[in-house]
Amino acid sequence: MCPVTLEKLTKVYPNGYEAVHEFDLEVADGEFMVLVGPSGCGKTTAMRMVAGLEQISSGTLRIGDRIMNDVSPRDRDIAMVFQNYALYPHMTVGENIGFALKMKHTPKQEIVNKVRDTAEILGLTEWIDRKPGQLSGGQRQRVAMGRAIVREPKVFLMDEPLSNLDAKLRVQMRAEVARIQRRLGVATIYVTHDQVEAMTMGDRVAVMRAGVLLQCDKPQRIYDSPVNIFVAGFMGSPSMNLFEASLGEGARSLRLGSQEIVLPASVLAARPSLVKYANNEIVIGVRPESLAMAGPKRSASGNETVQFEGDVDLIEALGSEILVHFSTDAHRVEAEGMYSDDAEGLEAGSITRPGDGVARMAPDTQVTIGSRIKLQMNTKRLYFFDAVTGLSIEE
Ligand SMILES: Nc1ncnc2c1ncn2[C@@H]1O[C@H](COP(=O)(O)OP(=O)(O)OP(=O)(O)O)[C@@H](O)[C@H]1O
Ligand SMILES: [Mg+2]
Repeated sequence: MCPVTLEKLTKVYPNGYEAVHEFDLEVADGEFMVLVGPSGCGKTTAMRMVAGLEQISSGTLRIGDRIMNDVSPRDRDIAMVFQNYALYPHMTVGENIGFALKMKHTPKQEIVNKVRDTAEILGLTEWIDRKPGQLSGGQRQRVAMGRAIVREPKVFLMDEPLSNLDAKLRVQMRAEVARIQRRLGVATIYVTHDQVEAMTMGDRVAVMRAGVLLQCDKPQRIYDSPVNIFVAGFMGSPSMNLFEASLGEGARSLRLGSQEIVLPASVLAARPSLVKYANNEIVIGVRPESLAMAGPKRSASGNETVQFEGDVDLIEALGSEILVHFSTDAHRVEAEGMYSDDAEGLEAGSITRPGDGVARMAPDTQVTIGSRIKLQMNTKRLYFFDAVTGLSIEE
């Protein structure tokens, strides 16, 4: 049985705008589900429907086996942590955490015990008598979580709880929130527009766009097998390189701008349906880490690899690796809202320049700006998409 089940959940706002369309999601007991998607795609709306803060236009929400559509927020056994949490400034950490219990007239000793246990889980024991003004941002965020945890809810909802923290603290808190959630074992829906958070924190990730759920799966599965161009481009930083290309006769070759790439037979063998796209436009994708400099001694046994050329126009040294931005005369493909404006990327100094491709290489790679380089990749790492529907061609 799933603690939380969303069935065709739909939200039409009074002005007629449909923010969430027939959203299906099952969150298992103890599961950490991350809801990710670009700004305005309906994440908060979906959460607010689950919390009972927003009327459900149609569809069914279940918690356990109980239908919750018309149950008041108070009676849903849900705790929510928002981006803009407000602590009571005049109360201590302990009083802040215990406040909800006090309001419910919980016996004093029970409050003391629960507050103590909660503070311990969150590593706040030392600060229990401090006022929020004397805490760091991360500690304050933990107090906000404490106020939710202490109520022992069946379901946790977190809407971008870390986005007010500075980049370094956010990375730290990411691991911490995931650890606390696992320890509590409470079904959790965590909203973020940061795909790095989604990848690292979730047991599963639900990718949303324009009110619609596109894919829900384990993070690695989504990374390895995105269902369409949007998911492919959204998950991963730097983004997957996506180019317009045309397939040649019998799907045996690929035209990328002015370059002709001969495809090994294994490509078609792995995806027989590619033959339907012969002599047609498609979109190909390759992740930055799948590209390497073509060595001078490419042996005959290396026939699973293909090569193409690009002009290096920018090199970003990140210490552990370099990002080589290159341009070709092929058109780069972008789906609207595809690039998550995740702070991780900005922090690392990475620049998304539409029109370019990006390759991720070892820091000692010999490459200079302005030079023309030969890149190679294993064709197993090549993605193919239908240029019209945007769907992945996998078979
Ligand atoms: N009360 C409202 N009336 C009409 N439209 C609304 C209302 N609230 C939100 N919307 C619209 O619904 C869409 C989804 O909003 P929502 O807040 O759920 O997005 P989000 O995915 O949480 O975005 P963000 O990442 O920016 O927080 C947006 O286009 C928004 O403008
Ligand atoms: Mg939101």
